[in-house]
Amino acid sequence: MCGIVGYIGTKDAYPILIKGLHRLEYRGYDSAGVSLINQGGDLVVYKAKGKVSALEQSVSDKDISGTIGIAHTRWATHGEPNATNAHPHYSQSHALSLVHNGIIENYKTLRVELEKNGIQFAGETDTEVLVQLIEYMQVTHQCDTVTAVHLALKNVVGAYAIAVLDKRNPNQLICARKGSPLIIGIGKGNDKAKPGESEFFLGSDATPIIEFTDKVIYLQDEEIAVLNRNGKHAITNLDSIKQTPQMHVLQMNLDELEKGGYPHFMLKEIYEQPNAIRTCMRGRIDPTNKDIILSGIRDNKEHFMRARRIIICACGTSWHSALIGKYFIEEAAHIPVEVEYASEFRYRNPVLDTSDVVIAISQSGETADTLAAIQLAKQHGCFVYGVCNVIGSSIPRNTDSGTYIHVGPEIGVASTKAFTGQLITLILFGLALAKEKNTLDEVLFHQLVDDLMLIPEKMQQTLEKTKGIEQFAKAFTYCKNFIYLGRGYNYPVALEGALKLKEISYIHAEGYPAAEMKHGPIALIDEEMPVVVIATKRGMLYDKIVSNIQEIKSRRGKIISVVTEGDTAVKSMSDYCIEIPDTRDSYAPLLAVIPLQVLSYYIAIAKGRNVDQPRNLAKSVTVE
Ligand code: G6P
Repeated sequence: MCGIVGYIGTKDAYPILIKGLHRLEYRGYDSAGVSLINQGGDLVVYKAKGKVSALEQSVSDKDISGTIGIAHTRWATHGEPNATNAHPHYSQSHALSLVHNGIIENYKTLRVELEKNGIQFAGETDTEVLVQLIEYMQVTHQCDTVTAVHLALKNVVGAYAIAVLDKRNPNQLICARKGSPLIIGIGKGNDKAKPGESEFFLGSDATPIIEFTDKVIYLQDEEIAVLNRNGKHAITNLDSIKQTPQMHVLQMNLDELEKGGYPHFMLKEIYEQPNAIRTCMRGRIDPTNKDIILSGIRDNKEHFMRARRIIICACGTSWHSALIGKYFIEEAAHIPVEVEYASEFRYRNPVLDTSDVVIAISQSGETADTLAAIQLAKQHGCFVYGVCNVIGSSIPRNTDSGTYIHVGPEIGVASTKAFTGQLITLILFGLALAKEKNTLDEVLFHQLVDDLMLIPEKMQQTLEKTKGIEQFAKAFTYCKNFIYLGRGYNYPVALEGALKLKEISYIHAEGYPAAEMKHGPIALIDEEMPVVVIATKRGMLYDKIVSNIQEIKSRRGKIISVVTEGDTAVKSMSDYCIEIPDTRDSYAPLLAVIPLQVLSYYIAIAKGRNVDQPRNLAKSVTVE
């Protein structure tokens, strides 16, 4: 999500840091900043909202000297994207500056404690708590900065990759990680035992480093590294026990690095899903008390308690997640939910009143039709709730409340991790509302929470099971049409699978509720028609879908199925079959969609399509 760059050595740090920030811009950005210890010994921080070029313009008249520095591109998680919330952050005395990737889950508690002790905060971020905490530890324990970093990190819950500058020690750069990657680049001069040429580079990935060195150390979780200007480095764990790092030689070029070694952003984003949804859930599930913490609902309880219905407006993939959200919210919270295409809703005269809650779902937060739907809902006095990915985008700014899905920048035009992030968020929403309304019995509620926490691991297992798809996908490049079928929670998954295929392979595909086959599409079935069936095994709909498959088989259609591990009935009728781990019906879409994403990807690749930028499509549709 955010990007970190650092440098200590003999060269001017600023040009290296800025170049590194440009390299990291592909990860998304809304603001950027740099901190240097300049030649005069001052610790300076410069920050700007917007692109890295805005930061460059803003420092044109500033002192950017110095051979040690840290820099950051931010993709906001806590606090609005603006210059104040941009990193680096100063400590209260301005003796320390810090950049951070990740989320400090207990930042509110820490902030309250620090404020009680007289610490004043400049912004709203979780990151500022870290730098203030380090300084607080330094003062209260009368210790050096490295020890203070150890003490502070022991009090932190969450994920972090950090880099810290200390004005009083311009010869050392301190960094640490847990849950967020951080890579140390070893300068080419370091092993020549010529201190005059020693240098270290730091990056949240290797893209800002590769130009200068291919020798790197991947910092491990709960490790703290001190990089010295003389070319020496020391790595310890949180208990100050010395660690022996492994040196790696980077084998990739820059383009490969930006895509994390994957050939396309889409594939990278498909594979990122287990971690992306972990981030989405982080801090929102209390595993001890089996509770859901969604401030968007908690702080606006009165609107949700008096709501007679919920209307969800969205477009494209977000509309598909809305359909699944409808099923879950109705089941869990016993409230009617309607799903609308934002583009239709905005031009109808919908019957709305002030007791309606309208949810707008949008990855980009900028879709013109969804924004217009929000305006209409507001004119009718509805309470509007946003479910978006891009922090500070137009939809979150125009809604009364909401929840970010926090899956990181999605670059491939075909939406993948945003879809599963939206599903998780809607499930959390349904559970939080159910809790407020007391519509689920406690045992079931706890089971739902427990099962949800297992999903990231099951997604990982699902990805393992998609390995064979690349091979069989080639058999379908000749096809002109595809049908996708599902029932219940898996019906919108069929729609989403068909959309993925259309978007990136340009093959015509239709998604249907399986029982609707008989009312028309069955006429299309012949030996050339591939039918993708999502037939996960739980509940009463399984037997019915088995009958639907028989109907296709008897007309010689080709069956590609997504089934639950251990299935025999559907598997035996399928030409190709992908197994996914067992989970409850309502969570099956989170797993079942993954093989469909992978299938469309490999069919498109086999057809030589530009999967990341398919023709005629845009990532964010800001016009009607
Ligand atoms: C475009 C994108 C789709 C996306 C849709 C809605 O069509 O190509 O991937 O689902 O817009 O975008 P939103 O940002 O509102 O979710």
